[in-house]
Amino acid sequence: MKINVDGNDRRFKAVWFENNDVRLIDQRKLPEELEIINAKDSDEVAAMIRDMAIRGAPAIGIIAAYGLAMAKIKGEDMDKAVKKIGGTRPTAYDLFKAIEYMKSNNFELSAATRYSNEISGRCKKIGEYGNQLISDGSKILTHCNAGALAVVDWGTALAPMRVAHDEGKNIFVFVDETRPRLQGAKLTAWELLQEGIDHAIISDNAAGFYMKRGEIDLAIVGADRIASNGDFANKIGTYEKAVVAKTNNIPFYVAAPGSTFDFSIKTGDEIPIEERSEEEVLIINGKNLGPKGSPAKNPAFDVTPHEYVTAFITEYGIFRPEELHRMQNLIEKDLFMRSA
Ligand code: MRU
Repeated sequence: MKINVDGNDRRFKAVWFENNDVRLIDQRKLPEELEIINAKDSDEVAAMIRDMAIRGAPAIGIIAAYGLAMAKIKGEDMDKAVKKIGGTRPTAYDLFKAIEYMKSNNFELSAATRYSNEISGRCKKIGEYGNQLISDGSKILTHCNAGALAVVDWGTALAPMRVAHDEGKNIFVFVDETRPRLQGAKLTAWELLQEGIDHAIISDNAAGFYMKRGEIDLAIVGADRIASNGDFANKIGTYEKAVVAKTNNIPFYVAAPGSTFDFSIKTGDEIPIEERSEEEVLIINGKNLGPKGSPAKNPAFDVTPHEYVTAFITEYGIFRPEELHRMQNLIEKDLFMRSA
């Protein structure tokens, strides 16, 4: 991804391997500071995933792959390393896909590099297919951050917007702020600003207002896990946006690589939903929002039923929910996906 550092455009990945350590952009510090941090063992990798120094389903898979390769190089007990890293974020299917990939490739560093390059190349294809759905002048809603930070480059939901912008299409992106952790306001807005893509941050409650006024042409979001029937988990609040989009006849697209599709489950009811600390809801900038003593609830994801999805944008093409069996056939024939 393009990042402007001291007036110069430079290219960064969200996570990479260097000098026997895993290196990553600390997403907790954005947008104020661009800080690169190191993880030196599987404990540190697991802590960084859990604490969301890196987040977004594909990026979680990629750091897991590098983390396991590093653990092998440093002579760690691999069963323990797999358990630690695999126990961090239960909803993101890419995490488990990446672990399986690394297991079947003997935890080699070359496999982790291949995994990262494959996923990022596939997201570029998502961008090319998704661009076909975007017209000059399109106004697009997105939720959370499904950009390059959430993959390693390109992004999923943001990839079509990047390609459309690079082609010279004029687009405008409505960025849901995405409480409680504000991935939209902090990360998506920052990525769009780096790319020079026109956008505005809106409060999570405002999307329906703009949809009803006819100011949003389409919505594109990412996913953390997609079931065989097309039900999908994504950042909490996605379900509401999808329902309001359908009510207003606005197409609702889900962009994700094959590594996010869990064909072992039939419906979204089988997707485990991560519950995070109540402090994420209660405390902003170190200050308690409500009266001390009021508890909070904090499900990190919700499941949107497939009837609200217009289509999935994938590296294999664009599929309506009822066409996902075709995509499953393609995945079964795909050597990379098969080895995970
Ligand atoms: O809790 P997060 O920030 O990891 O949640 C991220 C999302 O919900 C993204 O939309 C999803 O992982 C897709 S990222 C390409």
